[in-house]
Amino acid sequence: MNLKAVFSIFLISVCFTESIAQEIPLLKTSLVGNRIVEFVPKGFDKNKTPSLILVSEPKSKGKVPYDWSLVPEFIFKNNKASAVLNLKGDISLYGGGEVTGPLLRNGQSIKLWNTDTGAYSVEGGKRLYQTHPWVMGVRKDGSAFGIIFDSTWKAELITNSNQIIYNSEGALFKVFIIDRKSPQEVMKGLSELTGTIKLPPRWALGYHQCRFSYDSEKRVMEIADTFREKKIPCDVIWMDIDYMQGYRVFTFDSIRFPNPKVLNDNLHKKGFKAVYMIDPGVKVDKDYSVYKSGTKSDVWVKKNNGDEYHGKVWPGDCVFPDFTDPKTRNWWGGLYKGFLNTGIDGVWNDMNEPAVNDNDFPEDKRLGTMPYDTPHKGGENLPQGSHLLYHNAYGRLMVEASYNGILKTNPTKRPFLLTRSNLLGGQRYAATWTGDNFASWDHLKLSVPMSLTLGLSGQPFNGPDIGGFLGDTSGELWANWLGFGAFMPFARGHACAGTNNKEPWAYGEAIEKTSRIALERRYRLLPYLYTLFYESSKNGIPVMAPVFFADTKDPLLRAEDQVFLLGENLLVVPAFAKEPALPSGIWEELSLVEGEKTDKYQAKLSIKGGSIIPAGKIIQKAGENSFDPLSLFVCLDAKGIATGKLYIDSGDGFGFEKGDYSLLTFNAEKKNDTVIVRISNVEGKRNINDEIKKINASLFLGGKTYVGSGTLKDGIMIALK
Ligand code: NOJ
Repeated sequence: MNLKAVFSIFLISVCFTESIAQEIPLLKTSLVGNRIVEFVPKGFDKNKTPSLILVSEPKSKGKVPYDWSLVPEFIFKNNKASAVLNLKGDISLYGGGEVTGPLLRNGQSIKLWNTDTGAYSVEGGKRLYQTHPWVMGVRKDGSAFGIIFDSTWKAELITNSNQIIYNSEGALFKVFIIDRKSPQEVMKGLSELTGTIKLPPRWALGYHQCRFSYDSEKRVMEIADTFREKKIPCDVIWMDIDYMQGYRVFTFDSIRFPNPKVLNDNLHKKGFKAVYMIDPGVKVDKDYSVYKSGTKSDVWVKKNNGDEYHGKVWPGDCVFPDFTDPKTRNWWGGLYKGFLNTGIDGVWNDMNEPAVNDNDFPEDKRLGTMPYDTPHKGGENLPQGSHLLYHNAYGRLMVEASYNGILKTNPTKRPFLLTRSNLLGGQRYAATWTGDNFASWDHLKLSVPMSLTLGLSGQPFNGPDIGGFLGDTSGELWANWLGFGAFMPFARGHACAGTNNKEPWAYGEAIEKTSRIALERRYRLLPYLYTLFYESSKNGIPVMAPVFFADTKDPLLRAEDQVFLLGENLLVVPAFAKEPALPSGIWEELSLVEGEKTDKYQAKLSIKGGSIIPAGKIIQKAGENSFDPLSLFVCLDAKGIATGKLYIDSGDGFGFEKGDYSLLTFNAEKKNDTVIVRISNVEGKRNINDEIKKINASLFLGGKTYVGSGTLKDGIMIALK
């Protein structure tokens, strides 16, 4: 090579590695809906940054209004794209998905690189299992905006009070900004762009009991039987990895779980559902059917040299399906058929960041996953790309494949799927929990802002491991946690291998009684909870909401993250809450179950003035008839009126999509010394006259309770004297 050639190679490499930040002009800016603006930087290429977040690209509808002030500045430096938004005025920031730390995100930063972060510390867990490139801002006047950074590249999200910065390690991306009159309207906008949860089966709203692991069929039935003997409500028992044969997914241990069909039938007879874990890592074993079939179908992630990528997880050396390839997703979905035919009701996808134990990154020991440059095939509308691009979407693509496979196997049932890893928009496929927390007071308190933030990031169906996963749990901690955890959208007790027993009866008689009361309270409220899930499946409003939703203009509520709302009408004040900021207006304490008021562990529940909350009787499982009778809790506003909704359907299946449901609106009105409660509207075709024969109403007024009863047809009269 002559000198001239060497010099020109040098010049070319200088050009490519130059690190001067380049400000990128906008190629297109358009208003795409009710004040949703799409920003596309010049140079954006969907083959470099495909969207895995949006349900569909919104159709362009017009020009951006002249007064629009939220405009991202795009920067491109060292092949890494960033966006910066300068904020004007005093703005409260929220979102970012699965985060530790406070609900109010001003002054926070997180890394978006899905990571198996067991025992994350309260302040230090800035990189968790999921990616939500999403921030919501609430202005002083209560109006709000939301920003989607539509990228899955490794990134960091910085939310300073005057600036939001999104630094990615990849190509240019689009930004969507929703600007509306309230945070609730912004949440609706987020769901228009990224979808909502699907209505879950009603049983999934019951209490779930889990452990790593109930490790034999006998132990599983002991747990189930004890719930029923002790009359502690429960719907689901979970099977963690030890049910598998040598941790091979889609198999059953021949000694400890020899008859899964019989086990599942026995659980069903007692009114339980069974959820089983499936991880993405498939054991490298030439005699194992899943490895053989995947190899034949060419579904594994391969290294740049074309060899299978191997990484160590529970079973030892594993291969990993390349879920970016539609053929692989289809193959994976097909594996559920034989598995679910044993009577399995729900699936738990874990370790799907994906976590790989033997490949710790030198920069941070907990980044264990595939090397950044591992290629992924793509297919259909996904381009070929590196792991740096697709890592944050791996869990999301896995749950898409699982969801579709589950639905295909059982087309008349609503799939229930729980995932540890996910991406903004992935609520369309799976519920989630907050990963491996610790049995400590810090983690108990942290579970409230964590769940609230997930809810504000489009994922309403979430909750923590109640009691704490790692470490031993004391009776005090358990009782305090369940006292409010019973009102979180996903309520599951879980425990790590090697820790103490953590079932409701494991801490002695007094705590067992407390646990029963907490769960009876949840089960009485199932009709309300189910109605909230139905609404959330339509409009994306979180089931568990921050208290500032009650008054978006009240600055004192903006940072409150000990107490929370369930829907709009129920305030939950956990027993640990110290001097919480509470919403003003009329709120009356609710009574649901005997003994709750004198039990120091129970959260205090208050109903909002102007609302009617539907409830059922105490039941042991969600499938039981709850409405014998239907209870209505009424709290009048200052004008003496109240309203509320109740959604009813068959609890599973898709009949509701064809009209087999009933959405009732109740109204109450005070006239002199009586309050009349009536149905004011009925939507849907379901005949509910046989389901609801009698209604008992309780009116909470000035600390006193007044009761009345009646029927759907005649309404209810409550005498105040
Ligand atoms: C990690 C999960 O986070 C935990 O919940 C589960 O028990 C273990 N994997 C074992 O499967």
